[in-house]
Parts: sequence; C-alpha cells; structure tokens
Amino acid sequence: MDIKEIQLAIDNELKVCREDILNVADQSSLNDFKGLHLGKKSLCSSLFSKMRDVPSESKQLVGKMVVDLRQKITDIFNAKENELKQVALEKQLQKDKVDISLPGYSHKLGSKHPFYAVVDDITDFFIGLGYEVADGPEVETDYNNFEMMNIPKDHPSRDMQDSFSITDELVLRSHTSAVQARVMAKCKGVGPIKIICPGKVYRRDNDATHSHQFGQIEGLVISESATFANLLETLTLLLKHLFGEKRKVRFRPSYFPFTEPSIEADISCFECGGKGCKFCKNTGYIEILGAGMVHPNVLRLNGFDDTKYQGFAFGIGIDRVAMLKYNIDDIKRFYTNDVRFISEFFKE
Ligand code: DAH
Repeated sequence: MDIKEIQLAIDNELKVCREDILNVADQSSLNDFKGLHLGKKSLCSSLFSKMRDVPSESKQLVGKMVVDLRQKITDIFNAKENELKQVALEKQLQKDKVDISLPGYSHKLGSKHPFYAVVDDITDFFIGLGYEVADGPEVETDYNNFEMMNIPKDHPSRDMQDSFSITDELVLRSHTSAVQARVMAKCKGVGPIKIICPGKVYRRDNDATHSHQFGQIEGLVISESATFANLLETLTLLLKHLFGEKRKVRFRPSYFPFTEPSIEADISCFECGGKGCKFCKNTGYIEILGAGMVHPNVLRLNGFDDTKYQGFAFGIGIDRVAMLKYNIDDIKRFYTNDVRFISEFFKE
C-alpha cells in the first residue's frame, strides 16, 4: 500500500466509524463498535502490523497517520460512552425523583415539663451559691429515711409520712431528707457540706394539692459557722428568685424531728396579695417550705461532732412551686402524662 491508499483507507474507516456510532444505543452495541474499530481485526491494528513493510522514509508519516486514526476513533468511542452514561444517569434520576411538593413528616418538638423547669431553676440557683447536687435512691432504707433523721421506730412523726413499705427495712423514701444521711456518711464527720438533692418522694396523701408521689429538693449545709441568719437569707433569696422581688416572705416556728429550731416559710398570697382570700384560707400567706438548724442528734447520729459543727437544712416541694408559678390546679397533672397539658408550657 502506498501512502495515498493508506490515506484513502483511513478516511473511509473514519467515515464508517462516524456512521456506525450513530447506530450505537446501548453498552452492548458500543462494545461491538470497539471490537470492530479498535480491536485485533480493526483497520488500525492491521495498519500497525503492516508498519514493518512501509519503506523507512515514510515510516514516520504513516506511523503518525495511524496513531491519529486510533486517537480519533477512541475520541468517538469515548464521546459515545459518556453520552450513554449520561442517559443512564438521567433515567435513574427520573426513577428516583422526589416530589418536593409533598408534605413532609412533621416532628413535634417537645417542651420542658413544668416540674423539671422548676428543678432546673432551683438547681441552677443553688449551684450559683456554690452548692453541689447530691443523689440518692427512691427505694431507701428505713435507717436513712427515718432513724438517721432522728425519727426512731416509735416516733409519732412517722405517722405523718406513713410510708410505702417494701420490707421492714426498705421503704419508698418519704422525703429527700434521707439523702442527708447518705451525704454525711460519705463525709465521715468532716465538713463542710453544702448540697441540694432534687428527687421524687412517696407518701400516703391524696387531694388536689397532695399526691402519693411528688418531688422535693432537700438542702443541707454543715460547717463550723453556718448560722440561722444564713438560713433565713438563703431562703429569702430563693423565694424571691422563684416568685419575684415583690412577694413578701414570712417565717413561722414549726416542728421537724431533724431540725431544732424548725421553721416554715410562707410567701404572700398570689390571689389577694396578703389581704386574705379563699385561696390562702384567709391567712394572706401560702406555705411553701420547711427548714431549720440541723438537730444536734442528727449531727451525732451521722458521725459529726455537734460541738464543732452546726448547719441548716431545708426541704421544698417541687410540684407545689410549679403549681403556684404556672397556676396549675391539680398536682396529678404532673404525672398523668397528658401531652395537651404539658404542651401548654414553654411554647416556642
Ligand atoms: N422532710 C420534710 C418533709 O418531707 C421537709 C423538710 C423540712 C426538710 C424541714 C428539711 C427541713 O430539711 O429542715 O416534709
């Protein structure tokens, strides 16, 4: 073959390729195309194998012509291959099409339960005053719940907290004061102690403002210098923080077996502002928490030297605070899990 013939054959091959590629519509016909025009029996291959017969002065030129031919056919092949891939992708996308006009699944956002809003608020308040948060179990020993709190077996005040007994020695704790015993045991007679303990408690009780289960936050401070004045100041700050600066705070003498002296704190009535109404049973005040100086017996029972240490304690009902703060009529709403009730609070 002389150069002219080779050129003719190349031009023809390219023409045929351009025609053939038009008929390629899928991967299998593309493979056939490749075999035919780039495979062993293709013109390209046969030209390459005939190179040795080409006279040496033309070798370079013919070589370049054949390499060009192979490149052009490869380009045609690649272009088609990309086109087929694109078509396949389009098809797949059509199949997977998402109708963005369809309404999505709605995820209802939860909101904080008013009970835990009060727990968090009071906890943050005391952490700000340098208290630590302690914890204890809801199934408690009679020993921690009563004995260590200066309430021996035959003590009449056990009647007020007629507890849910599990065995003779295990009860559902009737107050978070039980955690005092646990914390003091850990400290082995060495102060200072400055803790609060939020948690659930259980007693036999049942009306609109009392329930067999409710929440309390216990506070305990033991040091060589904690005074009654410190207690009154702490409680006044707490109650003003919870109910507003304008609310009046009043302290009354009271009795608890684990404190001496004992007090109760009241705040001026929300309804009448202190004049007296049905809501506050004409007293002008609403009872809010119990407190006192830690009884020397409690210090001694729990391994503290009552000639060196003194302290104060307080216990506040979480549900009661939430009921007053958020105007809730029945304590049972806190645990009956009616979403309509909970979603009333803290809307976005
Ligand atoms: N434990 C008491 C109760 O359940 C609340 C209480 C009163 C706790 C006085 C105290 C306190 O620490 O000093 O009713």
